[in-house]
Amino acid sequence: MTWRMAHRADRLDPSTIREVLKLTERPGIISLAGGLPAADTFPVEIVAEATSAVLRASGRQALQYATSEGFPPLREWVADRVSRKGIAAGPDDVLITTGSQQALDLIAKVLVEPGAPVAVESPTYLGALQAFSPYEPSFAEVACDEGGPVPGALQDVGDARLLYLLPTYQNPTGRCLSAQRRQQVAADLGEAGVPLVEDDPYGDLWYDVEPAPPVSALMPGRSVYVGSFSKILAPGLRLGYLVAPPDLYPKLLQAKQAADLHTSGFTQRIVHEVVKDGFLDAHVPTIRADYTRHRDAMAEALTRHLPPGCRWSVPAGGMFFWVELPPGADAAALLPAAVAAGVAFVPGSPFFAGGGHENTLRLSFVTVPPDVIDAGVALLGGVIDGALQPTR
Ligand SMILES: Cc1ncc(COP(=O)(O)O)c(C=O)c1O
Repeated sequence: MTWRMAHRADRLDPSTIREVLKLTERPGIISLAGGLPAADTFPVEIVAEATSAVLRASGRQALQYATSEGFPPLREWVADRVSRKGIAAGPDDVLITTGSQQALDLIAKVLVEPGAPVAVESPTYLGALQAFSPYEPSFAEVACDEGGPVPGALQDVGDARLLYLLPTYQNPTGRCLSAQRRQQVAADLGEAGVPLVEDDPYGDLWYDVEPAPPVSALMPGRSVYVGSFSKILAPGLRLGYLVAPPDLYPKLLQAKQAADLHTSGFTQRIVHEVVKDGFLDAHVPTIRADYTRHRDAMAEALTRHLPPGCRWSVPAGGMFFWVELPPGADAAALLPAAVAAGVAFVPGSPFFAGGGHENTLRLSFVTVPPDVIDAGVALLGGVIDGALQPTR
């Protein structure tokens, strides 16, 4: 059978990261490639107890179809949580989604027009580029430095449908916008008349000081804020949410209805049972403490093992280091040698909407124990050094 694919199917590329992850499943590989949270942080017993409690107390409702907006007490909980971050929101502004990845798809379905620009950071989250691409935008890469979009960079994106921004411990760079840069971005967007889509799955994973409030707090009525339970509870729950203004919410809700009717009501009730009495206030600090040790181990390992000419900065939160090799180096070309040596990473180029930047790569520090991080970075340093030798 020769299937006649829809035009948009051409835009569905296999994820480079998933291809890399297949390589890393080989036994013996130290994988610094994954984007997964550490499984030993998942509160398995607590989820088991909550599941029994939900089934005992409201089993039949939990297993029935439910409303597309989400489980009302969970929407209330989310509204309260984002309000404490400075975003004025009530439960009616919250749409529970099947992971925050679905929120990105719904937003694109409603706002992205074929050929119209969507502004993205340089680089940005690959999964967002993949979610937006089938809706056929043209991507406008916003010039960024280590502090995020540079002042004035948004002047050129005046006709963009939206700016997709990860201001807090970005995937892939780990960078975090200062309060001043957040204000600048909000002001620039206001001037350009472009709405914001703020993706914030890592905001609670801070290791040094708490980050500045979300940019959405500075842009009431002109932003959609996207959050997730994946990095603070467990990604297998597939639970995220968006917070949208009342003039946009109904369309997003209709898109949600068409996509999957609703996110599992059973899972929503379980998660609400877990979080309702403040569990995360105790749990998230334990993740922070664990990830801080890992982050510090990777910072030391990079200093010890990477050859001169490599650059990185130490992230103040999140899960990733972003490394720049000397100009002319090609991270993707190094990957087979790295895997043969026993270590894997993700090449950076796919995170750029316009490609290029072949000398960049992303390293995750959360899943591998600190002593193994050191061994993995030592192997990586050896491979990079070997590749750079002929050019020295
Ligand atoms: C920046 C960013 N946004 C969204 C997601 C999707 O997360 P989930 O669908 O599990 O909430 C991820 C996952 O790694 C991510 O890094």
